[in-house]
Amino acid sequence: MKLWSKGSEPDKMIENFTVGHDRELDLQLARYDVEGSMAHIRMLESIGLLTSGELELLLGALGEIAEVIERGEFTIDPGVEDVHSQVEFMLTAKLGDVGKKIHSGRSRNDQVLVDLKLFMRDKLRDIASATTRLFDTLINLSEQHRDILMPGYTHLQVAMPSSFGLWFGAYAESLADDMQMLLAAYNIANQNPLGSAAGYGSSFPLDREMTTRLLGFADLHYNVVAAQMSRGKTERAASQAIASIASTLGRLAMDVCMWMCQNFGFVTFPDELTTGSSIMPHKKNPDVFEIMRGKCNRLQSISNEIALLTANLPLGYNRDLQLLKDIIFPAVGEIIECLDMATFMLPQMKVRTDIVEDPRYDYLFTVEEVNRLVLAGMPFREAYKKVGLEVQDGTYRPVREVKHTHLGSISNPANDRISKKFHDIADAFQS
Ligand code: ARG
Repeated sequence: MKLWSKGSEPDKMIENFTVGHDRELDLQLARYDVEGSMAHIRMLESIGLLTSGELELLLGALGEIAEVIERGEFTIDPGVEDVHSQVEFMLTAKLGDVGKKIHSGRSRNDQVLVDLKLFMRDKLRDIASATTRLFDTLINLSEQHRDILMPGYTHLQVAMPSSFGLWFGAYAESLADDMQMLLAAYNIANQNPLGSAAGYGSSFPLDREMTTRLLGFADLHYNVVAAQMSRGKTERAASQAIASIASTLGRLAMDVCMWMCQNFGFVTFPDELTTGSSIMPHKKNPDVFEIMRGKCNRLQSISNEIALLTANLPLGYNRDLQLLKDIIFPAVGEIIECLDMATFMLPQMKVRTDIVEDPRYDYLFTVEEVNRLVLAGMPFREAYKKVGLEVQDGTYRPVREVKHTHLGSISNPANDRISKKFHDIADAFQS
């Protein structure tokens, strides 16, 4: 049965094609649909479109549906198109004509919009929490590994001394930038579209500020056409924030894969966190970080998918928009899964503490030598040439001593400042 049915049912093939994955995906929207409906009917009562008795009946029935959802028992019946229809059918089945009054002054177009705003707001908060857990883990590890040196590379050639403290801290600080993107996406999601109805408003005197307050939105999309335009934009902003985190995490995963390679041999994991081979008995593979790298690379493509799906759509609602759910819903779960996996794995990573003792890393210390000569009074270019010639004729002997003290360097990584920077952004998600 369809909400819009006037007697005849559509062809089965048409129905399956147009409903797509909605019956499954919309389950994730169910609680928000009820929340949106509760706010809408409170507002309808306040403007005289429902009596207080009708409001009580509807709130009671919606409350019961909310409990069914809470228990995980809510389903969308075969033949029912989506969550919005299912909730309305359930209300009508229970309350008869009163149930049929709920849809005054709204459309499924603003219903799905408000559901998605509430859903995205929650999910972006969940992503922010998972990012915060990884951030705190990285900062702790940075402090713990502060003095453990490792080679720094440029062009993947041995370059200058670095440290595990810097490495962990670098990814932590990089997450602070991603968190800014996430906060921007959160602020975009945190606006009420309800009252835009089919996309052009209503002749009922809807109190849109009231539903904004009731749903706890920070603001509203004022212009009803802009409210409808936000479908796709909200998802796009979220996907760009997810892509930003994914790019940080994907690079981290690549570093770990590379360092687990025997040619580097910088880090290991306990056997139970690695995977084996069906033929090579010695293997301890970094599958976790490979899957993480792959997932994170894929996650960076979804903002393109969303851009292409929504490019040049005519103004107003178009059914293409339904497909946004297929893209963004799984992405939200996957980025959280990757963040949680990194938070679980990294504290168990064993780091070699004597890496830079190996003669193959002798040249890491050439710049240290140049700087020592400069501090003793020699002009930089002369010192550079002197050490360069020593390298060339094989007389260079490294002094494996590193004195990097400026802000953000090996001995002074400024983790407290990085923490403040990150947590100031993270705290903004609470409002
Ligand atoms: N399932 C639909 C979607 O996600 C709900 C809105 C349907 N609106 C319509 N005019 N057919 O877009």
